[in-house]
Amino acid sequence: MSKFVKIVEVGPRDGLQNEKQPLTIGQRCNLILDLMKTGLRSIEVGSCVSAKWVPQMAHSDELYAMLPQNTDISFSLLTPNIKGFEAAKAVNCQEVAVFTAASESFTHKNINCSIAESFDKFADIFQAAKSSNIRVRGYVSCMVDCPYEGAIDPRQVAQVVKKLYEMGCYEVSLGDTIGTATPDRVKKVWQACLAELDASVLAGHFHNTYGMAIANIYESLQHGIRVFDSSIAGLGGCPYAKGASGNVSTEDLYYLLSHMGFETGLNLEALMQASQNISQVLQRDNPSHYANAYWQTRCA
Ligand code: HMG
Ligand code: MG
Repeated sequence: MSKFVKIVEVGPRDGLQNEKQPLTIGQRCNLILDLMKTGLRSIEVGSCVSAKWVPQMAHSDELYAMLPQNTDISFSLLTPNIKGFEAAKAVNCQEVAVFTAASESFTHKNINCSIAESFDKFADIFQAAKSSNIRVRGYVSCMVDCPYEGAIDPRQVAQVVKKLYEMGCYEVSLGDTIGTATPDRVKKVWQACLAELDASVLAGHFHNTYGMAIANIYESLQHGIRVFDSSIAGLGGCPYAKGASGNVSTEDLYYLLSHMGFETGLNLEALMQASQNISQVLQRDNPSHYANAYWQTRCA
């Protein structure tokens, strides 16, 4: 089994989409420039969604266009429909992400359509992406619980994941959107998904509301999952999932993986610098246990 784990940094997107005071384009760009120095090779830049729905992500296409080209970093944009895809394509975006959920209620609240309708919208994206050679990643929210419907059947999750993969996603990330998952429940979801798909096309996206994200990632590793989404300084939340806290911090994920002997390609000093800088911009304490321990031992 591979000892390399791919980390998809979602701080600039998931991390900032719920901020009460939206960051400026310049601040968002500085965060990404900091993250580029850390060794991260996959960074989600923002979302091409309605600015009326998520004002924090407005002008994500412009932000994308400000980033250096010709790097080996994959920058991506979230695109819920063909309008978002066209905006991403216009700035030469090479990777987009489509997003739906295993819960009907959440899908309605989040993207204003049913799960089946979301697939119809994505069909246009897959077609256009194929002819433009743009990679498409997928997200399935509510992998264990929905904020509106409660527990979700793992078999339902697996069917939505399978559908996205068969439609053309090269990888599907399963989201514990409200951070209520525990390892026993995560195990059941992976078992259901792995009956349909190979672990190499699956990823975990754990929010840390109940402090279980690292335990859930540990469980996922036992099932062969080798791609995880995380946010620098544990930023994050979803505007349509009330009470959901940030993603697992990239710093804590790095600590777990490096101590388990996994390679991540991350540079610790640069990671800590990026995390400190964004915490200062937001004037917020960093919830990452590792970042706090790191600075305490450095200052002792
Ligand atoms: P709608 O109102 O059904 O769309 O929204 P519509 O097609 O009827 O259009 C309404 C207006 O939106 C029109 O503008 C369109 O032009 C505009 P108006 O005529 O009123 O001025 N519009 C757009 N503008 C910019 N970009 C677009 C776009 N599409 C339509 N792509 C829509 C449907 C999907 C747009 C809306 O529901 C939306 O933007 N939702 C935002 C969803 C979102 O960003 N959620 C957070 C990300 S998902 C997440 O966080 C979960 C995840 O992290 C995993 C996990 O944790 O579980 C991924
Ligand atoms: Mg999320």
